[in-house]
Amino acid sequence: MTPTCRICETAMEPFMSFGKMPIANGFLTPEDFATEYFFELKPGFCENCSTLQILEQPDPERMFHENYAFFSRTSKRMAIHFQSYADWVKENYLTSTNPFVVEIGSNDGLMMEFFAKDNIRHLGVEPSANVAEKARSYGVETLCSFFNLETAEKIVSEKGSADALIAANVMCHIPDLHGVAKGADHLLTPDGVLIFEEPYLGDMIENTAYDQIYDEHVFIFSARSVQNIFDRYDFELVDVKPQSTHGGSMRYVLARKGKWPVSPAVETQLLYEDKKGLHLKTTYEIFRDKCEESRTNLVNILQQQKDVGRRIVGYAATSKSTTVLNYCNIGPDLIEFISDTTPIKQGKFSPGVHIPVRSYETLRDGYPDGFLLFAWNHKAEIMEKESSFTQAGGEWISYVPHVEIIRK
Ligand code: SAH
Ligand code: TMP
Ligand code: ZN
Repeated sequence: MTPTCRICETAMEPFMSFGKMPIANGFLTPEDFATEYFFELKPGFCENCSTLQILEQPDPERMFHENYAFFSRTSKRMAIHFQSYADWVKENYLTSTNPFVVEIGSNDGLMMEFFAKDNIRHLGVEPSANVAEKARSYGVETLCSFFNLETAEKIVSEKGSADALIAANVMCHIPDLHGVAKGADHLLTPDGVLIFEEPYLGDMIENTAYDQIYDEHVFIFSARSVQNIFDRYDFELVDVKPQSTHGGSMRYVLARKGKWPVSPAVETQLLYEDKKGLHLKTTYEIFRDKCEESRTNLVNILQQQKDVGRRIVGYAATSKSTTVLNYCNIGPDLIEFISDTTPIKQGKFSPGVHIPVRSYETLRDGYPDGFLLFAWNHKAEIMEKESSFTQAGGEWISYVPHVEIIRK
């Protein structure tokens, strides 16, 4: 059956395939190796509605459950970022008396806590039970559920309408955006706003950051695609704000048509996207060629390091690294282990290629000659933390925006 666009149902072809891929956050133990789940990771671009999407996605229940491995609180910089996001929402969109804010994909409650602390009526909606429980332990009211129309109906009947529905790094995870848009329409007050920020297509293309594409990221958005998707539900894009988080993100503000003034930033962004050719098929063909080139260069560098007997360790077992490791077929022969600060990942093996994941403390037994920087989106934070390693001559291999070795 020919795959069709999840937004407008136009027939679609993939512009490339990253091959057989496991669940990006599916860290596992040896007894699970034999039954590991794989799917084909192939992105396509719908020229009709300008949406980049993966054509096959595992069922959400395979990815988001009581053993979900990503905790927002692992990054100090993200904590600072979410505080400023929350402050900005309070200042601009929670100006009514006794406002109510709902977050989709609130995870361990990192952002919602900034509302809870101010005694603002709030609710996090989070389907992964383990991270939802963590949020509650920080005093964040959390509903353990996927966000959709049914969830919105439940919230409205129990708590009333919301002034703002906010999100970060989750809209691009949700295959049924129609359900989200209907839910938002049901949940929000007439002047209510839907705000979300997600990895930005323009930055992904600019930096050949192909590792933004993995099972959870069913979409990579642009301003044009967001406008097209929500136009179907009578919402309009009223503002866009570029963010430096996650290697380049965009914050989108949507409101019901005619309710809020449209910032000139929207038109500027749409023009930028047209100039960059984000609406053109050829852009994605060029991107595919650059991915292949990146793969060749990365494998060559790692092989050269191995040939001269240098020890390379992966820095951070990110979700994104699953795409890189499996697409490039990099296994424990090239990367001794991956160091990661998240307890649930430690002692397990990386999805697909089965590289051991060890605690950060393991590094005390001896730093390697070089790190392969999987958490390139947290580069500034990590470089600061590891400055003595770099000063002592340690090397970093990075692949975004291009494959290179970074020395002091
Ligand atoms: N917003 C946090 C977490 C991002 S990870 C941050 O930026 O750090 C994505 C989160 O969304 C996960 O915790 C996942 O369980 C949750 N999620 C996935 N699908 C969802 C859906 N349909 N509704 C609400 N949350 C969802
Ligand atoms: P992400 O890129 O999918 O957001 O995941 C970040 C991962 O990186 C998470 O598993 C924690 C890990 N990490 C470290 O191990 N050390 C660090 O200094 C940082 C910032 C993240
Ligand atoms: Zn489409």
